Amino acid sequence: MRRKVIAGNWKMHMLPNEAINFIQEIVPLIKDTKNEVILCVPYTDLFYVLLNVQETNIKVGAQNVHWEENGAYTGEISPKMLKSIGVEYVIIGHSERRQYFNETDETVNKKVKSALNYGLKPIICVGETLEQRENGETKKIITTQTRLALEGIEKEKMKDIIIAYEPIWAIGTGKTATVEDANESIKAIRKEIEEIYDSNISNEVIIQYGGSVKSTNAKELFTASDIDGGLVGGASLKPEEFAKIINYEN
Ligand code: PGA
Repeated sequence: MRRKVIAGNWKMHMLPNEAINFIQEIVPLIKDTKNEVILCVPYTDLFYVLLNVQETNIKVGAQNVHWEENGAYTGEISPKMLKSIGVEYVIIGHSERRQYFNETDETVNKKVKSALNYGLKPIICVGETLEQRENGETKKIITTQTRLALEGIEKEKMKDIIIAYEPIWAIGTGKTATVEDANESIKAIRKEIEEIYDSNISNEVIIQYGGSVKSTNAKELFTASDIDGGLVGGASLKPEEFAKIINYEN
């Protein structure tokens, strides 16, 4: 049985004091969950969040990383830097970074490799645009993105990788993919991973759904056969709402 992993993606929200208040409010609400909980927070919140989640069941991730260890890359943060303060996860290739910051399949792959080398666990985002969906290209786009992101990654590393399937048209729009569509797309990603590696790896890899996940749709999404939890944007900013998503079984 694969575990369920529920990750919040705060994007460019939350000042340190807001982050600390959030953690204080959510910790008692989720203390009994057996699901894995990750908060992916802005760089400026990382240190405060790390200090405040000690002795809780919350793990911490960043939202981006550079592939070099150090160097003349003004404004960038390296995997070694993230690891040095205790960050465990990092989102790589979110559609907003692909769309607004020139992230490509090639830079995604470099970042994934480097993150793994420094002991960070990547959450790799893949997903199609509305136009691609309407043209019937969804499977082709998401399997290609998956294959390119994983190029050169040994199968032993796959246990440290999470894939997040996020249809771009569903992000922040209130439109969720139907459970059937999300599950079918995730099955296609799993099939691709089976072709790259083998069925043991594809049966074990965690693949989340992301795109307008909320407390009212979490249960039907997360209980589908191939959906192993979610990457949650807007609804991860409110402790009560995010706790309901984490406790979706109740
Ligand atoms: P959303 O964002 O839940 O606000 O749609 C999801 C994401 O972009 O990771």
